[in-house]
Amino acid sequence: MNILLLGSGGRECAIAWKLAQSPELDRLYIAPGNGGTHKYGENVALSPLDFDAVAKFASEHDVDMIVVGNEDPLVAGIYDYFDAIPGSPLIVGPSKTGAALEGSKDFAKQFMARHSIPTAAYRSFTADTVAEGEEFLATLRPPYVLKADGLAAGKGVLIIDSYEEACRSLREMLGGMFGKSSATVVVEEFLKGIECSVFVLTDGNGGYRILPVAKDYKRIGEGDTGPNTGGMGAVSPVAFADKEFMHKVEERIVKPTVKGLAEEGIVYRGFIFLGLISVEGEPMVIEYNVRMGDPETEVVMLRIASDLVPLLKAAAEGNLSDMPLDEDPRYATTVMVVSGGYPGDYPKGKAISGADSAEEGSVYFHAGTKLGADGTLLTSGGRVIACSAYGKDLNEALAASFRGAGAVGFEGKYFRRDIGADLRAIEEAK
Ligand code: AMP
Ligand code: GLY
Repeated sequence: MNILLLGSGGRECAIAWKLAQSPELDRLYIAPGNGGTHKYGENVALSPLDFDAVAKFASEHDVDMIVVGNEDPLVAGIYDYFDAIPGSPLIVGPSKTGAALEGSKDFAKQFMARHSIPTAAYRSFTADTVAEGEEFLATLRPPYVLKADGLAAGKGVLIIDSYEEACRSLREMLGGMFGKSSATVVVEEFLKGIECSVFVLTDGNGGYRILPVAKDYKRIGEGDTGPNTGGMGAVSPVAFADKEFMHKVEERIVKPTVKGLAEEGIVYRGFIFLGLISVEGEPMVIEYNVRMGDPETEVVMLRIASDLVPLLKAAAEGNLSDMPLDEDPRYATTVMVVSGGYPGDYPKGKAISGADSAEEGSVYFHAGTKLGADGTLLTSGGRVIACSAYGKDLNEALAASFRGAGAVGFEGKYFRRDIGADLRAIEEAK
């Protein structure tokens, strides 16, 4: 089977690594890929948002299946585009309507309400209803959670302590703080707990498989301080997401989500990312995403023991129910090495050393890297390399990830040295 994978991050590098191990794979193309993905396939200079160019390439190269890594092409309707063309490759991803679970927080909240899926109490407001928004805020206890309805590159959520500031921010968001994305704002109840990421592969016919659960670390600073980033590290499995918790997740969230999509006729053949929070052991949905997480994928792929190609094919064809998905019993961790200054401004084009070969049981997934004209590996983004590793336990995996992060060199590099520390504490307390 020939596969075209769309995207250029650490997530796509990890998916490419996993796909490349499949005996069912003939050729793998990654568009546009990065300075590491060419180890697993052929990088193709294509924009995933240029659907005509993607279709032309796919037809010229006998592509059988397109795996969409990031949300933008999905929200822009890549599934529907190919669905309308007879003889198109299989697409792993939701239809445009399905992608609105990530593309519109208001749509996602309404979907959860219709299917009684546990999530924070909320209301949505526009410029016309800002006074009602202020009244609703007055009924909530601080801190206040304000979310831009549309995609805002992970920056559209504000958590604010004072009522006055929340009212001011609501007006600013509705006034265009995040452009069109915040023309509608979701105001919701603050939930206190610990977060984890659950990934579901679904086939649109009620069939689904739950992938290994992961936890990511979003803030730039140790101790979860400072601004949010795309994610600074990840761990799988997750100590508090035990059998009992995952049973609740499956019964209360996964099943009603998959069933709700089918009942509403929403075509969805791809990954559902459940951003969850455990509130005293009870799972609640913080958000849906319509893709895999990054850097969660850089640990989840290590923990899928089964061949991913037939699983993705079955999801895209609508017959996932008979497919096994076996988990690797080992721990997997990843530590993201980032450019100095990230998530603010940072330099690019710094030469990277030490990223050629990882130690046994570890793998470097490239994110913001590219090859210079002379073949030198250079930084090209904020998150540069995800240092993933297996371990028989959490400590062993983390130690290997930190050794990996220490061995990669470039001017201004930074990584968090406390990835997984909270889960270690939970495990030690057990
Ligand atoms: P989102 O983009 O919806 O995932 O929100 C970004 C982050 O804000 C989440 O990962 C949470 O840490 C936090 N957050 C969002 N909604 C809530 C909520 N209702 N209560 C507490 N924290 C939240
Ligand atoms: N790591 C969170 C995300 O991919 O959105």
